[in-house]
Amino acid sequence: MEKTIVELFAGVGGFRLGFERASKDWQTVWANQWEPGKKNQYAFDCYKYHFEKFGGINQFSNMDISSVDVKNIPKHTLLVGGFPCQDYSVAGTNAKGIEGKKGVLWWEIKRIIEAKRPPFILLENVDRLIKSPAKQRGRDFAIMLECLNQLGYGVEWRIINAEEYGLQQRRRRIFIFAYSKNTKYYQQSNHDFFEKCFPIKSSETVSTIVLPSNLLEISNKFSFLFGNSGKMLNGLISTCRVYADICTKNITLSDIMIDKAEKEYFLTPELLEKFKYMKGAKREERTATSGFKYFFSEGSIPFPDILDRPARTMLTSEGSNNRSTHIVADKTTGELRKLTPIECERINGFPDNWTDTGMPKNFRYFCMGNALVVDLIEIMAKEINKIFEQEIYI
Ligand SMILES: C[S@@+](CC[C@H](N)C(=O)[O-])C[C@H]1O[C@@H](n2cnc3c(N)ncnc32)[C@H](O)[C@@H]1O
Repeated sequence: MEKTIVELFAGVGGFRLGFERASKDWQTVWANQWEPGKKNQYAFDCYKYHFEKFGGINQFSNMDISSVDVKNIPKHTLLVGGFPCQDYSVAGTNAKGIEGKKGVLWWEIKRIIEAKRPPFILLENVDRLIKSPAKQRGRDFAIMLECLNQLGYGVEWRIINAEEYGLQQRRRRIFIFAYSKNTKYYQQSNHDFFEKCFPIKSSETVSTIVLPSNLLEISNKFSFLFGNSGKMLNGLISTCRVYADICTKNITLSDIMIDKAEKEYFLTPELLEKFKYMKGAKREERTATSGFKYFFSEGSIPFPDILDRPARTMLTSEGSNNRSTHIVADKTTGELRKLTPIECERINGFPDNWTDTGMPKNFRYFCMGNALVVDLIEIMAKEINKIFEQEIYI
């Protein structure tokens, strides 16, 4: 089968890089990236800069995905994208239809799948998707699964922590692999995509459940504790808790650090004190804007960051002075400093200076907080490549 990709929410191109590393056969025929409410579209510019340079069939779209006419999206065999965990609930409309909330990107993905019917789909989201919202555990994921079921897709999912597979970041994300009923892959009895990519040591069955076929019913009442792995075929879900076959030799934070950073990354005495406070344990009285007094407490987090382990999860706030910002002891001087943008790129498996395409430094950190561990995509792309080699789309 032809290997053509449409990349949604493309950011700085983590999916595309991973697929291109896996095989030169993959062609991204269309990509969309738009940073809401921003005049400067730095991530889009970075994406375009890199992939335009390397040639190939390129079509870049820099507009809100909700205003993209599906007619402008080319036919493709694989749809990929990382998108946010939002409120996927639906409401009944007067016309007896159902309607999701405005601005919720899942509905845009669904609209595109409905119109283009790609045989395969690979999506990424934060791990809490399977237990959201807090008041109705699993509702949002069930809505997503039922949408895919109604569109004629089988689904496999797995929460993967990159660290468990020897990589350089403790980043836990859910990956969702879906395939149309019209694929040969769907007809096979063994669906173990994620196990092939990411071996497991053991698993415990959580349960089997039939999804209600009515989205409104799921939205109003459904609640279920999904395991970190599972599949859905014909609306029948089986889910289990799997334990990774943990790789004991990791790439560590120290491995990816540069030898010596420039002066601007080092902490001033004032900043050092600020970080000591932010990262430390505290129990203190605070006053809410309403005047209500309460006790705030939190435990300490390692300060400075441990170098012989993978990095902690990188957030979009990495560039700011925040409790979750990494602070490391410089390899040459031993003095404390922030990570450099290159180190952040390495933590996600991007080439050095990938985001050095004219954006301010803070955006370089922001883009990396938004991105994914490219190595994971490369592993999955190799497996999808094998599936595609066998595939004839009916
Ligand atoms: C989780 S990030 C994906 C990052 C990407 N996988 C990468 O490797 O860089 C989601 C992206 O969706 C973009 N986005 C958010 N709302 C959007 C919209 N309405 N239309 C198009 N893109 C949007 C954000 O700017 C962000 O870059």
